[in-house]
Amino acid sequence: MRFGVLTGGGDCPGLNAVIRAVVRKGIDVHGDTLIGFRDGWRGVLENEAEELTIESTRGILPRGGTILGTSRTNPYKLDDGPGFVRETVADLELDGLIAIGGEDTLGAANRLYEDGVPVLGVPKTIDNDLGGTDVTFGFDTALHVACQAIDRLHTTAESHHRILVVEVMGRHAGWIALQSGVAGGADVILIPERPFDIEEVCAMLERRRTRGRRFSIVVAAEGAMPAEGESALAAGATDEFGHRRLGGVGHWLEGEIEARTGFETRTTVLGHVQRGGTPTPRDRVLATRFGLAAIDAAHDGRWGMMPALRGTQIELVALADAVAELRTVPLADYEEFSALFG
Ligand code: F6P
Repeated sequence: MRFGVLTGGGDCPGLNAVIRAVVRKGIDVHGDTLIGFRDGWRGVLENEAEELTIESTRGILPRGGTILGTSRTNPYKLDDGPGFVRETVADLELDGLIAIGGEDTLGAANRLYEDGVPVLGVPKTIDNDLGGTDVTFGFDTALHVACQAIDRLHTTAESHHRILVVEVMGRHAGWIALQSGVAGGADVILIPERPFDIEEVCAMLERRRTRGRRFSIVVAAEGAMPAEGESALAAGATDEFGHRRLGGVGHWLEGEIEARTGFETRTTVLGHVQRGGTPTPRDRVLATRFGLAAIDAAHDGRWGMMPALRGTQIELVALADAVAELRTVPLADYEEFSALFG
């Protein structure tokens, strides 16, 4: 059989491990032909593709990013985008598409499936916010990067008696902030799910000072918002899926904390460092398991589905369920750790 493969949305460590597993099992076990599209849905719309072989995918397991390239192209933003997708599938005589992506890429995959295109999804995102699966690959790597940064910032914060704010990724979900903050012993953790009160934040930092701790670490997800004044942080253009480029809560916090407490405060924005580089072993294994399950599912014609991790098992779930709602941090999880703040 012949299948097309694409990676869309923000890149993520582990994408190449999925591609490698799909290609190896597809060719070696099933005798398939695999076609890789350039830059996500853009390559499908413009029919820009090349055959993937065992040779061309050799050595990519430990490599970050995606050998296929990616983009935030939305096929539904183009007049008759689904028509172009169908044309490419017919032109390349594909039996179906394997779309590796997060909420946007898989949201488009699900709409295409509902519009009659044979497509299945593979979940990825460092944000870990996709429904249907307990975890996405890429998250573990991002967590390691963020935690290592917090550990390093701790020692310099302590030496200089400073407040150090660390802004991590997480537009709608605070998984990276919460887990890296807890693992790194942060004194304040701010997540998008729970708007914060800046006075409460400063009170926690002041309490630490009165207890003789002259430095503090504040971890903030990029999507964390003050309970009042959201508009002050809204900035930047929107992408084809309507996501706004966020305005920099870290630097905002720096100014507010310094002005309100008088404590010297600095900010580190980790940004794309969290998305780059080599995947952790855990991410490589999860991505490989997803890839193996995806090529089997394609063979079985399980269109509209997605391999997901449920407990320790890989199961197929409906794409529609996976993209119906973002998987955000339950407030109870956040509250549980708040005993350690301040
Ligand atoms: O979706 C993953 C993610 O890294 C988000 O955490 C972040 O908000 C966004 O992508 C950044 O996207 P871009 O690289 O397009 O600026």
